[in-house]
Amino acid sequence: MAIISSKKQPQEPEGQPQEHQRLKKGVNSSPQPPPAQNLLQPQAAADELLKQEESIRPQRFADYIGQKDLKDVLDIAIKAAKVRGETLDHLLLYGPPGLGKTTMSLILAAEMGVECKITSAPALERPRDIVGLLMNLQPGDILFIDEIHRLSRMTEEILYPAMEDYRLDITIGKGSSAKTRSLPLPRFTLVGATTRMGALTSPLRDRFGLIQRLRFYEPDELSQIVLRTAQVLQTALTDDGAEEIARRSRGTPRIANRLLKRVRDYAQVKVSGPITQSVAAEALELFQVDPCGLDWTDRRMLSVMIEQFNGGPVGLETMAAATGEDTQTIEEVYEPYLMQISYLQRTPRGRVATPAAYKHLGFTPPNEQLSLIL
Ligand code: ADE
Repeated sequence: MAIISSKKQPQEPEGQPQEHQRLKKGVNSSPQPPPAQNLLQPQAAADELLKQEESIRPQRFADYIGQKDLKDVLDIAIKAAKVRGETLDHLLLYGPPGLGKTTMSLILAAEMGVECKITSAPALERPRDIVGLLMNLQPGDILFIDEIHRLSRMTEEILYPAMEDYRLDITIGKGSSAKTRSLPLPRFTLVGATTRMGALTSPLRDRFGLIQRLRFYEPDELSQIVLRTAQVLQTALTDDGAEEIARRSRGTPRIANRLLKRVRDYAQVKVSGPITQSVAAEALELFQVDPCGLDWTDRRMLSVMIEQFNGGPVGLETMAAATGEDTQTIEEVYEPYLMQISYLQRTPRGRVATPAAYKHLGFTPPNEQLSLIL
C-alpha cells in the first residue's frame, strides 16, 4: 500500500537565493514536488500496525539484530528478575521513532513469559482509560505506553501510586464530598516509550528503575535486518542489494523494511531474478531516496540553510517558516538523522549546515570558496 504524505507542500521562500557554487547535479533540492509516498518517515504508517506486519517483527532476543548495549542490560534484568521470581523494574525507552521500542517491549514480555498490553498516551485521555487498563492487568504483565511524554496530568497522577506501590487511588464524587478509595493492583511492569525524553516530567521519569536509549542502527545491522525480512517475505535479495537498501534507510529498521517492500514491488514488475545492488539503487532513485537516505524535505532544509542563511546558524522557528514544516517535525524527525550523519549541527545560536552537507548537495563549503577565488 502506498504511504501517502499528509505534509504540507513546502513554500517557496521569498527573496532571491544567494549565489552559491554547485558542484554536481542529481542530489540538488531544486523546487519540484515531493513524491506522494513518504517512504522515509520513521513513524509507523497505518498498514504497518496491522497484524500481518507482526510476521516480520523479531519475537525473541535471539532474532533481534543490533542495540547490543540495550540487549545486554535487559538480558541481565530479565535473568535477575526470574531468579528472584519478581517482575521487571519499570523501563523507559527513548530515542527516535522506528528503532524498535514496541518490538523490544513485546520481546521482553515473551522472554518473561507474560502478556504485553500496548497503548499510547493519546489513547489515555480520560482517567477512566488508564484505570480500565490497570484493573485488567494480570500479575507480571507488561503495560507498554507509547509517546508517554504526552500523558495528561490526571492520568500521570494515577500512574504514580500504581508504579510505586501497585495501588490504584480512585476519587469518587466531587468537591467536599469526594472520597478516595485505594485498590490493590497486581505487580506489573510499565514500559514507557518516548522520542522526547526532555518532555517527561521529573516525577514520572524518576519512577522508572531502568532508563535506556535506543540508537540508530549501523548499516551492517540494517543489512542483516533486511536480509532477515526478505527471508520472511520469501524474496530473493543479494548481500549487496541488502547493503544498498541499508545505506538509504536512515539508520532505522522500519524504514529499511519499508524500502525493501517497495524495491520488491519494483523488482517484480521490472526485472526477473533477485534484488541486486543495481536493482535496489534503480528502484530507490525512482522513489527519490538518495544514496544517503535523504528525501526531498531533508535536501530542502539543508539547501534553505545554505542558500538563504549562508549555512547558518538559523533558529528553529525560522527554519520552520522557511520550509513550511512544523518545528516538532523538524526537531524529532528530520534533525536527528541529519545530525547523526554530521550534515547538521545544533549550536546555542541555531542550526548550522556542515561542509559535508554542502558537498552532498553540490555546493562548495565556505572554507573552500576562498581558495577557488584566489
Ligand atoms: N525488524 C525490525 N527491527 C528488527 C531488529 N532489530 N532485528 C531484526 N529484525 C527486525
